[in-house]
Amino acid sequence: MTAPSTPFKIQLADRLVKLPPYVLARVNALRDAKRQAGQDVIDLGMGNPSEPPQDIVINKLNEAARDPNNHGYSKATGILNLKREVSAKYFKKFGVRLDPESEVCVTIGSKEGFSHMLLATVGPGDNVIIPAPFFPAHKYAVAMAGASVISLEVSNHERFLSNIAFTCEHLSPVPKLVVFNYPHNPSSVTVEPEFWVEVVKLAKRYGFMVISDFAYADVAFDGYQPPSFLAAPGAKEVGVEFTTMSKGYNMAGWRVGFCCGNPEMVKALGVIKGYYDYGLFQAIQIAAIVALRHTDAAVESQSRLYQARRDLLLDGLRKQGWQVPTPRAGMFVWGKYPEPWASQMNSVEFAMYMLEHANVALSPGTGFGAAGEGHCRMALVENENRLKQALRQMARCLERDTRPPLAEKPANGVPKAAIAT
Ligand SMILES: Cc1ncc(COP(=O)(O)O)c(C=O)c1O
Repeated sequence: MTAPSTPFKIQLADRLVKLPPYVLARVNALRDAKRQAGQDVIDLGMGNPSEPPQDIVINKLNEAARDPNNHGYSKATGILNLKREVSAKYFKKFGVRLDPESEVCVTIGSKEGFSHMLLATVGPGDNVIIPAPFFPAHKYAVAMAGASVISLEVSNHERFLSNIAFTCEHLSPVPKLVVFNYPHNPSSVTVEPEFWVEVVKLAKRYGFMVISDFAYADVAFDGYQPPSFLAAPGAKEVGVEFTTMSKGYNMAGWRVGFCCGNPEMVKALGVIKGYYDYGLFQAIQIAAIVALRHTDAAVESQSRLYQARRDLLLDGLRKQGWQVPTPRAGMFVWGKYPEPWASQMNSVEFAMYMLEHANVALSPGTGFGAAGEGHCRMALVENENRLKQALRQMARCLERDTRPPLAEKPANGVPKAAIAT
């Protein structure tokens, strides 16, 4: 006779169970349901480039994929020729010299590299400072590494730096690592080269390591060039910088990123990667070399395309009463939605309302933590005609004002399920 079987229980790890519900999931679920029902939703939610990479890059991938030598495991930290190309780009663009062997690591997108770098550098008992509002991976990679997160408001640089100094003076243990992200996602805040000089001084004074997430290095407007942290004197002594081919090169799905700078940190990332992965498909690495070497002009014209979309969107939003700063870089417009909605709906409610009534998907500000409340983020990933259509639909919806009757709100104005912290 067989014993009555008790239902098997899958017991997941604490680090997974403790992750909060993904705020954008609600918006995405409604967007998908609408699309399945045949509605045309204009999606400004995610910074997912809409254009393909250049033909020469795709052709090189094709060619490299036909070479039988490229189908084995590649090197976990990337092939030397690609690292040489990254080092050449850093020198050409920022005047930064990098040793390709010890100061450059190829990653499977910058998010993979960033997350594994956190595993290599921090753990339980350590404090890590990140910007607020935050790109979710900045917070949750720290949390999954077991360290504690301190998020500091990022919109004003001087205050951000003085808050870092204050935290270092008063917190025990002193933060071990500080994450910077300029041009910033979601707010698009940018900095000048002097900012990084101050960061290096602070890092040396308090002994914290630096990670600069420079994902939007290649997407800038009006002649502005986002400065690299690594160009500041002494930067390589204190930290690393992550860059990516996802944004400027339209290669988001290819998953090509780089970690450059401090050799000890770069080596530590390589050790972690050696245990977790075998690196990026070699044919992609070979095609990435071609992209870095031959497609500068396309990267620039992609920025001009985003700039034209930015101008169109800013103009329309301002006419609707949004408060939107003009971004100098990045793929997003970040702004405060207008009254009376701002005082009556939190950002998730507003985004759901826009999706429901205007068929436009926005990212609610609290998807980037409580500091994002009152804001929404729009990605410049739809073409100008679609953006005009989105603006018309939003304006019609705001004019018509189909707001639901006021519901009772929790004390902080944000429904519990909406908080990403
Ligand atoms: C600030 C920031 N860092 C990293 C990434 C991820 O880039 P990758 O595609 O290289 O993983 C993104 C993508 O949206 C981003 O906004």
